[in-house]
Amino acid sequence: MVVLVTGANGQLGQAIQSVVERYHAIDFVFCSSSDLDITNQVNCEEVFKKHKPDFCINSAAYTAVDKAESEPQKAFDINANGPENLALVCKKYDTILVHVSTDFVFDAYFSEGTAFYDRELRLPLKSNLGLQESDVPFPNGIYGLTKLQGEQAIQAVWEKHFIIRTSWVYSQFGNNFLKTMLRLASERDNLSVVSDQIGTPTYAVDLAEALLKIIESCRTPLVSASNYGIYNFSNEGSCSWYEFAKEIFLQKGVIIDLQPIPTSAYPTPAKRPMYSVLDKTKIKNKFGIVLNDWKTSLKACLKQA
Ligand SMILES: NC(=O)c1ccc[n+]([C@@H]2O[C@H](COP(=O)([O-])OP(=O)(O)OC[C@H]3O[C@@H](n4cnc5c(N)ncnc54)[C@H](OP(=O)(O)O)[C@@H]3O)[C@@H](O)[C@H]2O)c1
Repeated sequence: MVVLVTGANGQLGQAIQSVVERYHAIDFVFCSSSDLDITNQVNCEEVFKKHKPDFCINSAAYTAVDKAESEPQKAFDINANGPENLALVCKKYDTILVHVSTDFVFDAYFSEGTAFYDRELRLPLKSNLGLQESDVPFPNGIYGLTKLQGEQAIQAVWEKHFIIRTSWVYSQFGNNFLKTMLRLASERDNLSVVSDQIGTPTYAVDLAEALLKIIESCRTPLVSASNYGIYNFSNEGSCSWYEFAKEIFLQKGVIIDLQPIPTSAYPTPAKRPMYSVLDKTKIKNKFGIVLNDWKTSLKACLKQA
C-alpha cells in the first residue's frame, strides 16, 4: 500500500514522518512543496503517474491566517485550487484522498457579538457539545473561506475522500503556539494571552496517528465506502489560549507573569473563532479512535520538544 504525503516539510507532514516506523505495511512517499506543488496540475499528474498511490494525505496548505487577508489569491490557489487538483488526479488514479481542514470554516458562526454565541457561558447557543460535521460552515476570513472552498472542490470532484477538520495544531515540529509561548517566555518576564477564545489543542502526532488509522480501516473496501466524508479531530477537553499557555508553562516549569486579556486587546487582521470546540463523536464511533485529553498530549509533546 502506497501513501503519498503532500506538504511533507510542514508541521503535520513532519509529524506523520515521525510515526512511520509503526506502519510496516505502508510505503510512504513524502513530497515537499518542491517535489510536488499542489497548485500545478501537470506536476500532480507527473508525481501520481510515477508513484500510483493508494492514498494521498494532503497536509499542504496556506496556513498564514492573518497574511491570507492581504494575499487572498495565493491562499485560494493553495487551499482551494490545490485540493481540487489533487481530487482530479486522485480520481484518475483511483487514489483515496485524505484531506486536512480546519475549525476556521466555522469562524463567523460563533464570533464575538453574533447571536449564535453566549459570551457569559462562552458557548455556542445551540449546543454545548461542540461543532458537528453537519453544522453549516460559515467562514469569516480568507483562510477559512479558502479552506472551505477546498473541501467543496473535493466533494464535487471525487467521492473517495476523507476530510478531517482539526483545530489549534501544535507539536515539536514547525511553527505553532507552543513554540511561540516557549520562545516568548525565554525573552520576557511577562506575557498577555487571549482568554475569551475557547477551543481544543490538537497534538499533530495524535492527528497523524488518526489519519493513518483511518487509512488502515480502508483495507475493507465496503467499510471505507460507507465511511467517506467529513470528520472532526482534536484532543479531548477545551480551554482558552490563556489556559493553554498557562498549562504549557506549568508543565515546563517556566516562571512567568502570565495575564489573561480579551480578544479586543489583541487585534489581528483576521478574526478568530470565539468558540471552536469540535464534537468528535463521529470519528470515535466510525474508526474506534481513542482521543487523549489535551493536557496528556501536551505532556507527551513536551517530552519530545
Ligand atoms: N496549524 C494549525 O493550527 C491548524 C489548525 C487547523 C487546521 N490546520 C490544517 O492542518 C493542515 C496542516 O497544517 P500545518 O500546521 O502542518 O501547516 P504548515 O506547517 O504551514 O505546513 C504546510 C505545508 O504546506 C506546504 N505547501 C504550501 N504551499 C504548497 C504547495 N503549493 N504545494 C505543496 N505544498 C505546499 C508548505 O511548504 P513550504 O514550507 O515549502 O511552503 C508546508 O510544508 C493544513 O491543512 C491546515 O489548514 C492547521
